[in-house]
Amino acid sequence: MTASFPALRLRRTRAADWSRRMVAENVLTSADLIWPMFVSVGDAEEPVASLPGVSRWPISGIVDRAREARSLGIPCIALFPNTPHDLRSEDGREAYNADNLMCRAIRAIKDAVPDVGVLTDVALDPYTTHGHDGLVDAQGYVLNDATSEVLVRQALAQAEAGADIIAPSDMMDGRVGAIRGALEEGGFFNVQIMAYAAKYASAFYGPFREAVGSRGLLQGDKKTYQMDPANAEEALREVSLDLAEGADSVMVKPGLSYLDIVLRVKRAFEVPVFAYQVSGEYAMIEAAVAAGAGDRDGLVLETLMAFKRAGCSGVLTYHAAHAARLLNA
Ligand code: PBG
Repeated sequence: MTASFPALRLRRTRAADWSRRMVAENVLTSADLIWPMFVSVGDAEEPVASLPGVSRWPISGIVDRAREARSLGIPCIALFPNTPHDLRSEDGREAYNADNLMCRAIRAIKDAVPDVGVLTDVALDPYTTHGHDGLVDAQGYVLNDATSEVLVRQALAQAEAGADIIAPSDMMDGRVGAIRGALEEGGFFNVQIMAYAAKYASAFYGPFREAVGSRGLLQGDKKTYQMDPANAEEALREVSLDLAEGADSVMVKPGLSYLDIVLRVKRAFEVPVFAYQVSGEYAMIEAAVAAGAGDRDGLVLETLMAFKRAGCSGVLTYHAAHAARLLNA
């Protein structure tokens, strides 16, 4: 009588580290990371209370972070301005001032570290007194087409300053096409567009709003333009429109709670898909670590790998520098 044994032993290839590495289906490297950072006026680093470990930096500090990104092998950084409150207005016109904080930061980075990609957010919320991403009517409704015209001016100012990737995060209909057309006409034919294509009206953006100084300003919510978390099919329509309008890549945001959307988008379109592991997700990991409920390095690398497994080309994450250090070790 022969002893019974499993027909297949999936544990065989897991038994040794060399073997696990050999059969790994996905790899995570520092080239998969995009590092979001906050720029402010003034001359000192300002820690963001709700994002422990994340600061706003003056332009000189942002340039240092860009150098750090380059030395860590992080290909691209994403910039968000904390606009001084006296420069915010109802119509957010500071957004397209060619000398605004954002444009000055872009120029300084491209001057000092030209080989690091600079991704810039297009939306009016860091510039408006009401905290919305666009122009509002008397009832507080965000106007689509009028907003789109302002976003085009904002995108052109950023491209003029040297931005490599324009990332509209406002969720207006038709803005990708409008921006693409204006970039072509302006001669910026190699400036990429990464569309925040499937951006949800999420409770995970809280710490970001503190970081760009729009918390407390926001009137109402963003549900008339950002997507309903109940919807997945609609994300595919958003992506297909943004691609048809000229987006080079698309983003899903937030990240971990929307990996099903990443997978569906990747399967349906086979284009570069990015995810934004947003501020609230970062804060949750840090809170778990502070509570002794988890190991930071493990949580960071596991969540980032999950994005790769779902089909992402890369991830925007506030843990980018920490993750790159772990990955490069
Ligand atoms: C602005 C914008 C937001 C984020 C990125 N761009 C906030 C929002 O839509 O309210 C959130 C990023 C984060 O939470 O890390 N349109």
